[in-house]
Amino acid sequence: MSVLVTGGAGYIGSHTCVELLNSGIDVVIVDNFCNCKKSSIDRIKALTNKAFTYYECDIRDYDGMDEIFKKESIDSVIHFAGLKAVGESVYKPLEYFDNNINGTLVLLDVMRNNGCKKIVFSSSATVYGMNNISPLTEDMKVGGVTNPYGRTKLMIEEIMQDLYVSDKEWSICLLRYFNPIGAHKSGTMGEDPNGIPNNLMPYITQVAIGKLDHLGVYGDDYDTHDGTGVRDYIHVVDLALGHVKAVEKVASGTGLNIYNLGTGKGYSVLDVVKAFEKASGVKIKYEILDRRPGDIATCYSDPSKALKELGWKAERDIEEMCEDSWRWQSQNPNGYPD
Ligand code: NAD
Ligand code: UD1
Repeated sequence: MSVLVTGGAGYIGSHTCVELLNSGIDVVIVDNFCNCKKSSIDRIKALTNKAFTYYECDIRDYDGMDEIFKKESIDSVIHFAGLKAVGESVYKPLEYFDNNINGTLVLLDVMRNNGCKKIVFSSSATVYGMNNISPLTEDMKVGGVTNPYGRTKLMIEEIMQDLYVSDKEWSICLLRYFNPIGAHKSGTMGEDPNGIPNNLMPYITQVAIGKLDHLGVYGDDYDTHDGTGVRDYIHVVDLALGHVKAVEKVASGTGLNIYNLGTGKGYSVLDVVKAFEKASGVKIKYEILDRRPGDIATCYSDPSKALKELGWKAERDIEEMCEDSWRWQSQNPNGYPD
């Protein structure tokens, strides 16, 4: 089986390529490198010792993508490529809609015209909005998303659902990720955000390495066990393994299926700080700030559908997530080389 991985050089994509290659699946990467370094490709090669092709191409480039489909024999697609910074999306909605929505439309059109109708898409728990009560299940009403980034995920889910209604030959998996953290055990691959991180774990690791002075904790007056926000953190390698199962699922027939990829457990910001301190031996200085607009108190998954239908379950605990995040950050204080 040969899988085209859009955004395959990024954080989740690179970890997924390693697990696909290790499972004996052929990989073709397409990335425009707008949010990653080319050296992540070298790391995938070094870790797997397997040959694969990569193309520098924007998924919005119809002719470029068409050429790749004509040259390679692609059975299915895992579609990670997209812009993902929530705050930035508020200031650049047109760029986000163009990249994420238009990019997906071009990709789907090229796929259809080349007879490839199997796709796994990176959605997000953000589609559940502000009003559902955790644990979140796939049948809950989606919507009420608070920012353009989240809206692109919701719209793409709807586009894919409409596509499936129009043509039952498609085989589609929509994967709703909870909060991916952690890194490859080797310490050679991990998350390498541009500028000051928006997300909790890369912020903590940059405080630990001394790049940032202290963590700002967004609110300690939520209705949670210690007042700070609760999330379902999932190890990126568990997430990657979920994609191997999902791509096997889309290969096996037709249909549209939605799965949560989470652990089903919630940890607060201060739980994560404590777990990280224990795993790294480094004290994390923090101060309590106001709540961040758009945040909710608690968000965690019910992952039982993925277990039942994909045979997938997250295996790695919060300690391992912290240890692996720290190994990556401490061995690569400046992220991937240029
Ligand atoms: P990432 O930025 O590390 O990876 C995305 C990759 O896509 C990057 O390598 C980037 O260069 C590439 N890309 C972006 N636009 C492109 C385009 N037009 N053409 C070709 N390549 C393009 O992000 P990630 O954390 O690995 O996330 C992967 C996917 O998962 C994204 O769609 C993201 O929205 C989604 N997701 C991520 C999280 C998370 O917490 N990281 C949570 C939920 C969903
Ligand atoms: C955020 C996005 C979500 C996106 C996900 C992955 C928002 C509102 N949601 O989820 O759409 O899919 O990232 O990119 O931005 N925190 C701090 N201090 C920090 C950073 C975070 O206290 O410096 C807290 C947050 O308030 C939250 C928790 O840590 O309670 C996790 O935050 P984060 O890592 O940004 O993820 P989400 O907000 O869950």
